Amino acid sequence: MNVLDSFKKLAGLVFRMIKGVVTPWTVEGEVDYDRLIKEFGVSKIEDKLLDRIKKYTKELHFMLRRRIFFAHRDLKWLLDEYEKGNKFFLYTGRAPSGPIHLGHLMPWIFTKWLQDKFGVELWFQFPDEEKFLFKKDLEFKEVDNWTRENMLDVIALGFDPKKTHFIIDTKHASMMYREACRVAKKITFSMVKASFGLDESSNVGSIFYTSMQAVPAFLPSILKQKNIPCLIPHAIDQDPHFRLTRDILPKLGYYKPASIQCLFLPPLSGVSGKMSSSKEYAIYTTDSAEEVKRKINKYAFSGGRDTLEEHKKKGGNPDVDISFQYLRMLFEEDDKKLERIEKDYRTGKMTTGELKKITIDKINVFLEQHQKKRKLAEKKINEFIYK
Ligand code: TRP
Repeated sequence: MNVLDSFKKLAGLVFRMIKGVVTPWTVEGEVDYDRLIKEFGVSKIEDKLLDRIKKYTKELHFMLRRRIFFAHRDLKWLLDEYEKGNKFFLYTGRAPSGPIHLGHLMPWIFTKWLQDKFGVELWFQFPDEEKFLFKKDLEFKEVDNWTRENMLDVIALGFDPKKTHFIIDTKHASMMYREACRVAKKITFSMVKASFGLDESSNVGSIFYTSMQAVPAFLPSILKQKNIPCLIPHAIDQDPHFRLTRDILPKLGYYKPASIQCLFLPPLSGVSGKMSSSKEYAIYTTDSAEEVKRKINKYAFSGGRDTLEEHKKKGGNPDVDISFQYLRMLFEEDDKKLERIEKDYRTGKMTTGELKKITIDKINVFLEQHQKKRKLAEKKINEFIYK
């Protein structure tokens, strides 16, 4: 299965979960937060909660200010514990099966910020069996290559090697399997069927898998032999796993993990556009500056008007404009600058070409740095793998 297929599958999963809403975006390009929150049963991140976070972090990450991270479970409880001196750890992950694109980086950039601000440990899971089990033709040999490649991208984001532990399911199996079995014993086939849309024809590995994804949420508690609160930053599609995890961990004597959820970065083709060939739907961390320029110019869905004349007169629509959305969700931290771009585009003062140029430059400045750090990361992999 290629990258496009896997994206379609993932998108399909989310579509199914938020029944009726085709994407987390409505047609106008605005996120229907209330609908999302209701369908998933997560809690909205209210201003009061942001103030509370700010108390400890001094400033708020733009992904919080802009509600890119828009929902949570038990975050208040987690902060209460933190205030009492009961520090939490972070847990997130990536199932290796292909290259990393900008959308993958979004929750990890935020996770790195959380690690810095709270000075906490991060457990990063690479469930190398997940895609192997879920994708028909994928072999472990190929997965191994992606595990390594994906690790480079994670390390390149600057996580603290002293506080960050990579766990690879098949490599750390002797530490994880017993705990996964304790989880699995509390999950019935019908629970898995309902949560993940599996059925009698699904392979038994895929039915078991969610038990492995639950393990890092309490593994540090086992290793340190005391209960430690856990916070999981993740994209909203992973919520079914952690809903199950939260049901089960208290039955095993551990805390329910808290979580904080973000939206997906939309594909280049746009919030309503059709996807073209797999290579064109996303920007990968290894793309060259030329490639980025070509992809944005050729494929980034534009909220501009058909003619320059009309655009100058009526203005563009940044809400559906992919270049603008990439700035808002990932690349322009400065609210004032973003506001100015939004205003100039909406009033027609800024053309689509100008907006695209800003986004291309931002992405390329980021990727130039990222690719350097990614190269340096080759020597650091061992430091990050849990021993
Ligand atoms: N299932 C995730 C994926 O498909 C990988 C993953 C494992 C994960 N543990 C996680 C993601 C914790 C977010 C948080 O990539």
